[in-house]
Amino acid sequence: MDRELSLEIVRVTEMAALNCARWMGRGQKMEADDAATTAMRKMFDTVQIDGTVVIGEGEMDEAPMLYIGEKLGTGVEPKVDVAVDPLEGTNILAKGLWNAMAVVAIAPAGSLLHAPDMYMEKIAVGPKARGKVDLDASIEHNLQAVAQALNKDVSDVVAVILDRPRHQHIIDEVRRAGARIKLISDGDVAAALNTAFPETGVDILFGTGGAPEGVLAAAALKCQGGELQGRLVPEDDEQLARCHSMGIEDVSRVLRMEDLVKGDDAIFAATGVTDGELLRGVRLEGYARATTHSIVMRAKTGTIRFIQATHDLSRKTLL
Ligand code: FBP
Repeated sequence: MDRELSLEIVRVTEMAALNCARWMGRGQKMEADDAATTAMRKMFDTVQIDGTVVIGEGEMDEAPMLYIGEKLGTGVEPKVDVAVDPLEGTNILAKGLWNAMAVVAIAPAGSLLHAPDMYMEKIAVGPKARGKVDLDASIEHNLQAVAQALNKDVSDVVAVILDRPRHQHIIDEVRRAGARIKLISDGDVAAALNTAFPETGVDILFGTGGAPEGVLAAAALKCQGGELQGRLVPEDDEQLARCHSMGIEDVSRVLRMEDLVKGDDAIFAATGVTDGELLRGVRLEGYARATTHSIVMRAKTGTIRFIQATHDLSRKTLL
């Protein structure tokens, strides 16, 4: 994939973020998601890729656009897998909370896990702790490993965990081990991404969230040299059958970076919709201007770019 694609992809996330930012705090998450999805879909038409959605807004019969299997781009090479989350954190945006983002990852066709829409148990860390954690090990073991890798005391390590009743045992174990916790209401892609940036103040992600979000986060961490391990959590026979039909035979297996995102040619982009630890949200400056803040990264080179862009909305024909 050409490096120029990075800029094209960030234009896609910018457009999605711009189009849904006006829904912040309005309590209408479906409308916000729809605004992000529509803008992202339109923008993809301008990108020179022969893309297929492998992680999207749902199956063909469930989603009007950005459905799994949908073709994206101009249809000209390179052939790529596309993973999208036009609005990661629909509840966050509806309430005006932290870390709503528009997210896209692309990689050569066949590289991204076609993760079914179900839960995934996850552990994620930044580059310094890569290779040191293990989803099958105890919480305490993983916290010790991260502390050692980061040259900190366990009491200084911060674990980020989705605030859900299903995570109470993890919360208890982290507290018993003496580490600190940041509970989040939603948005575990941003949480995983943040583990790779010391300035965000989080060191490790534990817990179960969406499997599609797991693949997006793995693509981000691949670009940064971090690590995510996941295990699918099918909740019924239908979900189990879904895993099998997507080529995942042994669902109890720990999925590692190479299972989630094969090779080292991936591009990940995210644009903040609401403010987060890493990205600022969209700033609307008078009716016709807006500023966006994005990250775009390329696994092949490890380049990480933060892009602040000011947009003249009166000239955005796609909005
Ligand atoms: P949406 O953007 O689809 O609302 O997802 C937000 C999110 O918090 C993800 O970041 C996370 O992986 C998942 O939902 C957790 O699911 P649940 O809310 O069912 O615990």
